[in-house]
Formats: sequence, C-alpha cells, structure tokens
Amino acid sequence: MLSYQHAFHAGNHADVIKHLCWMGVINHLKKKNKPFTLYDTHSGAGLYQLDDELAAKNKEYESGVDKIATISASSPLLQAYLSLCNEFLSVKQYPGSPAISAKLKREMDVLHLMELHPAEHEKLDDAMWKMGDDQSHVHHRDGFEGLIALTPPVPNRGAVLIDPPYERASEYQDVVKAAKKVLARWQQAQIVVWYPLLSERAGAKSGASQHMCETLSALGKPCFTIEVTVMENTADAGMYGSGLCVINPPWQLDVIMSEALDEITPLLGEQASYNLNWLSSDD
Ligand SMILES: C[S@@+](CC[C@H](N)C(=O)[O-])C[C@H]1O[C@@H](n2cnc3c(N)ncnc32)[C@H](O)[C@@H]1O
Repeated sequence: MLSYQHAFHAGNHADVIKHLCWMGVINHLKKKNKPFTLYDTHSGAGLYQLDDELAAKNKEYESGVDKIATISASSPLLQAYLSLCNEFLSVKQYPGSPAISAKLKREMDVLHLMELHPAEHEKLDDAMWKMGDDQSHVHHRDGFEGLIALTPPVPNRGAVLIDPPYERASEYQDVVKAAKKVLARWQQAQIVVWYPLLSERAGAKSGASQHMCETLSALGKPCFTIEVTVMENTADAGMYGSGLCVINPPWQLDVIMSEALDEITPLLGEQASYNLNWLSSDD
C-alpha cells in the first residue's frame, strides 16, 4: 500500500518552495528566546544521497535546487536556505524537512518526526543519528494520528508541517480533519500544508488540492496559499506545480516568501510563475 519514496523527488522544485517556507516559519519562531515544538507528520527519510540510484534515476534536483544553488541571493530567507543546502550539496546530499528542522532548532526546542513506512522510518532514524541528533523524537506512526495525540505542546508555541504523498485521494480529507482537530485544541498552531497541482490526467485528484485549500480557509484562521507552476496546465501535464497552504502564518511570511520567489521563479524555467493568495485574514 505504501509505495511512495521521496528519494526520487529530493531537491525538486516542490521541495525548494516547501523547505523555503518551512524555514521561514522556523526562523520566525526563533526570534523569541522561548522554546517551541515542531511537528513533521510525514517526515520521509530525512536526508537524501543525490548520487544513490533512487535520486539519480530522474535527477529531479537538477530542475530544482541545482538551478539556484550557486546564485548570489538578495532575499535573506533564500540566503539562509542556500547556505544550509550548500553544506549538504557539497557532499552530494539534499536535506529533507527533518534535517532542516534539526539544523535550525535550538537545544531548548522540541522536534517530533513521524513516518509510517517501516523502511523510510529506519532511514529517518539513521539519518538523525548520522546528523548527531539524539534529541529529536522519531516516531514510527501515522502522522495524522500522532499529531492529534502529541498536541498541544507545552508551552504552546510551534508549527506543523503536513506533507503527505497524496497517493490516496482520501489524504486530502485527512489533512482537513487533522488541521481542524489540531486547531480545536491549539488555536495558535502555525500549520504548513504542502499539496500538488495536478492536471486533468490525475482524474479525481485534479482540483482536489484547490478544494482542500478552500475547506482549510473556512476553519476560521488567517491563511494564504503560495503556488508555483513550472509548466502549462495542459490535460496531460501531470504535476504542473505545487503549493503550500499556510494557516496562522507568522508576521510578514507572505512578504518574505514573495521576495525569495521573485528571485527564484525565473530560474525554475521559462514557464515558471508564482501566485500568493490570501484566502482569509484577520483584518
Ligand atoms: C512527501 S514525503 C515527505 C517528505 C518530507 N516531508 C520532506 O520534505 O523532506 C511523504 C512521506 O509520508 C510517508 N507517509 C505516508 N502516509 C503516512 C502517514 N499516514 N503517516 C506518516 N507518514 C506517512 C511516506 O512514507 C513518505 O515518506
């Protein structure tokens, strides 16, 4: 049933946008000298070797992080992302969200990493160990269930990354149900949901992301989406881009992300463009 392996996609354009945004959220939490808790519901293997046979199969990183790795960035968020990535790229690795969180968090902060796939969980455990991280909690469990069981954190500062593979159409509803339950017990939760933009070829899944975002925006919290498309949405395009729905975004994350995307979108291809859209706000 579980067949998705993120190694095939490590460092692609979708990872770049997702990890930039996740770093923006964490860096904002770090502005206060108070502990926070991070939850990664779908962690994957944590760290990816770009020259192993999985990542090297389609070399998706070549149309993602490789396109921007050597630019001299102006956006502070992009500078921070590239500096972190280049540490890993120098040894032919790409950091997954667990490696990024582990690098950024401070000793007082807590990190919960959840992964359901037994082999991916084992790789995740190994990756955190190789990074010298014996503080983070690596759980072999369903991320939706684990998130509800482990929230709210004490103190109640922190953020959640929800990054399912969307292999099953039901995962779109699972995201909404989990976000709703978390917000009911932890109103301030900052939640970042990744989603694919799929063409007609995906059948029932085409348009499911847009519907999910509308439902998330109706949960009564400030929320925006950022979508990056890298090709035209023709019927058989497949995944023509990806997006993030950010609930309770930190102050100015929209501005900070726009600055970074202004710089990188033109480098992701002639047809690449982005769109940031507030679905609901406080004011
Ligand atoms: C897109 S990958 C995660 C990538 C990772 N967040 C990153 O950015 O580096 C999705 C992962 O979720 C795992 N997965 C699928 N269903 C799950 C569930 N219900 N709970 C936890 N993990 C799950 C898959 O095995 C896969 O490793």
